[in-house]
Amino acid sequence: MKIAIINGPNLNLTGKRETKIYGNKTFEEFLNELRQEFTHDFISYFQSNVEGEIINFLHDANQHVDAVILNAGAYTHTSVAIGDAVKAIDIPVVEVHLSNIYSREEFRHVSFVTPNCEGIISGFGLDSYFLAMNYFKRKFS
Ligand code: DQA
Repeated sequence: MKIAIINGPNLNLTGKRETKIYGNKTFEEFLNELRQEFTHDFISYFQSNVEGEIINFLHDANQHVDAVILNAGAYTHTSVAIGDAVKAIDIPVVEVHLSNIYSREEFRHVSFVTPNCEGIISGFGLDSYFLAMNYFKRKFS
C-alpha cells in the first residue's frame, strides 16, 4: 500500500516545541521507525507551514497514493479550504493528532477536517500515526 503522511504548521518542530504536550522525539526519528515497521509499504512524507501547499499536496496525493494520514496542525481548527480539499479527493483520509484535541482549549475542539475523514485518532502522541497505518493496513489487506 502507498500512504502519504501530511503534517501541517509547526509539526516540523515536533520533539523540540512544547515537549510536555508533543513529546521529545522528532518526526524524522519516528518516521524511520514507522518505515521499519511497515517495510512492505510505501510511506511518503510531506510537511508544510503553508496552507495552499498542503492543499496542493492533497490534490497530488489523490493521483499517487492509496490513502492519506493528515495532521493539519492548527489549520485543523481554521481551514475551510483544507476541509474542502479532503472532501474533494477520492482516497480515504484519516485525521491524526499527537495531543487529544478534545482535552485542550475549546478552540481546538472544532475541526474542519473531521467531517470529511474516515475517522480521527487523537491523543496517542506519535503512535496516532502508527494506529492510522494499522487501520489502513487492515483496510487494504
Ligand atoms: C496538533 C493539535 C493542534 O491543535 C495544534 O495546533 C498542533 C498540533 C496535534 O498534533 O496535537 O499544532 O495537531
